Amino acid sequence: MPRDLTRSNEHFKKAVTRLPLGVASNFRYWGDDRTIYVKQGRGARVEDIDGNHYVDYRLGYGPAILGYAHPEVDAAAREGMDVGGVFALATEREFRVAERISKMVPAAELVRYSNSGTEAVMAGLRLARAYTGRDEYIILEGSYHGLFDAAMWYTPMEKWSQSGEPEVAPYSQGIPLGVRSFAHFVQANDLNQLEETFKRTAGRIACLLIEPIMGNCLGIAADPEYLRGARALCDKYGVLLFIDEVKTGFRVARGGVQQLYNVHADICTLAKAVANGYPISVVAGREEIMRKFGKGVAHGGTYTAHSVSLAAAEKCLEILDETDALERIADYGTRLMQGMTKVLSARNIAHSFVGHPSMLGLYFDAQPPRNYRTWKSSDYAFYDAMAQVLHDEGVLCEPDSREPWFISAAHDESCLNDTLKGFEVAVDATLEARASGQLEKHG
Ligand SMILES: Cc1ncc(COP(=O)(O)O)c(C=O)c1O
Repeated sequence: MPRDLTRSNEHFKKAVTRLPLGVASNFRYWGDDRTIYVKQGRGARVEDIDGNHYVDYRLGYGPAILGYAHPEVDAAAREGMDVGGVFALATEREFRVAERISKMVPAAELVRYSNSGTEAVMAGLRLARAYTGRDEYIILEGSYHGLFDAAMWYTPMEKWSQSGEPEVAPYSQGIPLGVRSFAHFVQANDLNQLEETFKRTAGRIACLLIEPIMGNCLGIAADPEYLRGARALCDKYGVLLFIDEVKTGFRVARGGVQQLYNVHADICTLAKAVANGYPISVVAGREEIMRKFGKGVAHGGTYTAHSVSLAAAEKCLEILDETDALERIADYGTRLMQGMTKVLSARNIAHSFVGHPSMLGLYFDAQPPRNYRTWKSSDYAFYDAMAQVLHDEGVLCEPDSREPWFISAAHDESCLNDTLKGFEVAVDATLEARASGQLEKHG
């Protein structure tokens, strides 16, 4: 049954008079009549202004790892408010949080804070360039590293004809084309291509900027051998390994992807799960590299290490480090995948999962994708159509198949039951739409 979105639709008409697309971020616009406005989030559920309730698997693109309005984190944030905000001076808590981060992520020998993932990655790239004295960098096709010019090059895979090389395009108007020449692209899980690129660009590459579980591309995962091989190639060619753990950090393991794969970065960035949604991010890395900050490399920002976000981070990291929250999250994700498989297999629908149980991608092909190009041959039209029905059924996933499902520690048995009920309805509705010719097939 379609939801009643009367109030959201009405609010959209008002909002669009003052806000482009009626929202505060392009990604929040889901169409004139499907853009929803949130009243509140509690635990793993969100309520919109029409009173529709959803089990949420977007979690604001990952941050709400303990669930919305977490009492302990929010109490800590209130205590942070009492500290007074920002002073353009340091506080003692910065050190305490840095100690916790270094304990959880051993490659984070030294730590600096920023406010968003984008800001942290920008700082990390600047640092890598300064340390190596080189300007160019390598990124994986399909990855996302934030909204700044150097990272805003993407492959419009929808348009690719599955032969020849896909185009690399700016992700937005307003990006100087000259910036493109610094970026080189490789496909995930192809060490030969990586080494060829190192050879071809000898002495010009500052870093390999890599998200080993691609949190904006289904969760396509590097094989452990690929990441270890990439680490070895970086060492061989004198290139820094910059692991972007904005999404995976403190989520897939206490020490993030670096712990899962037992690979240490030279520079890493951590953000979403640091403070359960309060704005703070981290750029961290090897001491020798990080000491460049303040010795020739600029880093700062008015709101950096705001007392509210920092206090929330201290509490959130304590919980992630000292309780079984991450184990419970992974367990829920595993049971969700099992439940989905039961529904899909009963209908003979080929599928697989990618990523990690805490951030999982549902992929409509029997073999999980090895790189972004393989996504093109999956039945993503089925996913996208199904997602619309899921929203109507009270299950909030991203409308685009390339964003994984995020699990929080607040997802419980009732969430699982509601989700699997909605999932079954959505799968059947999508099958019906296809049988009646309303839905094209990809793959
Ligand atoms: C891997 C990665 N890096 C960087 C960013 C940018 O973070 P933010 O949106 O906080 O600027 C994101 C955001 O989704 C991300 O997933």
